Amino acid sequence: MMKNETAAVILAAGEGTRMNSNYPKILHKLGAKPLLGYVIDNVHAVGIKKIFVITGFKSKLVKEHVGTDAKCIEQKKLLGTADAVWQIRNEAVFKNRDARLLVIYGDTPLVSSVTIKRLVEQNLNSEAAVTLLTVRIKDPSGYGRIIRNERGEILKIIEEQEANVYERATEEVNVGVYIFKSAELFKAIKQIKPDNKKKEYYLTDVVEIMRRNNSTIDSVETDDADEILGINSRFGLVRAYKIFRNRVIKKIVESGVTVLDPETTFIDENVQIGKETIIYPFTVIERDVVIGGDCSIGPFCRIRSGCRISDDVIVGNFVELNRTQVAGFTRIKHQSYLGDTIVGEKVNIGAGTIVANYDGKNKHKTFIDKNAFIGSGTILVAPVKIGSRAVTGAGAVVPKNKNVPAGTIVVGIPAKKLNKKKR
Ligand code: UD1
Ligand code: MG
Repeated sequence: MMKNETAAVILAAGEGTRMNSNYPKILHKLGAKPLLGYVIDNVHAVGIKKIFVITGFKSKLVKEHVGTDAKCIEQKKLLGTADAVWQIRNEAVFKNRDARLLVIYGDTPLVSSVTIKRLVEQNLNSEAAVTLLTVRIKDPSGYGRIIRNERGEILKIIEEQEANVYERATEEVNVGVYIFKSAELFKAIKQIKPDNKKKEYYLTDVVEIMRRNNSTIDSVETDDADEILGINSRFGLVRAYKIFRNRVIKKIVESGVTVLDPETTFIDENVQIGKETIIYPFTVIERDVVIGGDCSIGPFCRIRSGCRISDDVIVGNFVELNRTQVAGFTRIKHQSYLGDTIVGEKVNIGAGTIVANYDGKNKHKTFIDKNAFIGSGTILVAPVKIGSRAVTGAGAVVPKNKNVPAGTIVVGIPAKKLNKKKR
């Protein structure tokens, strides 16, 4: 076994009463992914492979979501954060007395992997019994306060309900991310008493206990106050999503894309957009989308997961694209829906074109070859192929499997070939 093996535990047993929800708080989503998903991904990104998730409220449901990403362990009674960590004490990895344990709460998705990495690295260098993450905020209410002596050494963390007026005025607070020497942690947890107003076993009490045991207590401070945002209510979720969106958009803008109004633009993780593309207001781009350079996207459009758009494409107002590929120089400028469609180069999709890709049971594919001209209000019933340079008249309905050969003009309902005329 490696000397400095590091495992992680994510605490996610709580109900999240203030969410007023039928589902556990940590399964609520920021964009496409639940809060817990962000925390798991961030821990993975640091390079920690052994991850435990403590479940409690709707344990089965949480377990289903976690899948093979981590090992779920149920905390039968929610006796507090220290009791939650205690559930994993007998896991094989802790037979290695030097194993480290990263503890992080499932309701803090905005703590970045960069910050977690800083914490882990500092702990490996300092050899402290614990390195904890802190932040200074103007309004510390609701958080545990970090109490230091005049030499700046950490004495304890005091939870708000237990704090006196002086302690409450402390602006440095506990983010809820810590890395411990596991052997010292479990030894300290044994000494915790639930002698507080909530009658819970507070993990934060280990700091004072470790201090008493003459162990080294170390800390890392982040200057990004957004990272601490623990989500405790539905409104907290809204605030967190805004911060998350801003982070994503900032990265995209810095890479050479114009986003005219970040306030009304929703872009998920795992989206790539090429240089000089302009995103107009009220645009929604879901995860796993690639858009080329020099495109014009929106306003008021939705590009859903799985879409691939090449360079120099215009996707205009009230257009929805779903699992669709669009080749270069194609125009889809007004009020259209294309699903499961592959569109070639230099195609013009007229206003109001609809691809009927779902027959009530299955989804089918549509191919529109290069230089085709789809007239306004055309309905293409999938599966169907439109050849290159083919034309459909305004309001045409092309039935399924009635492929339109290259260069042919079709009109009407159902669409029929027009006078053998070629384009
Ligand atoms: C906790 C910290 C506080 C810190 C804040 C940061 C403690 C005692 N306090 O307070 O110092 O400033 O987070 O957000 O740790 N959980 C379990 N089992 C339990 C109890 C809780 O799994 O028995 C889980 C919850 O689901 C949650 C996490 O632990 O994900 C934190 O618990 P929560 O009740 O939200 O603690 P806070 O009051 O936010
Ligand atoms: Mg909390």
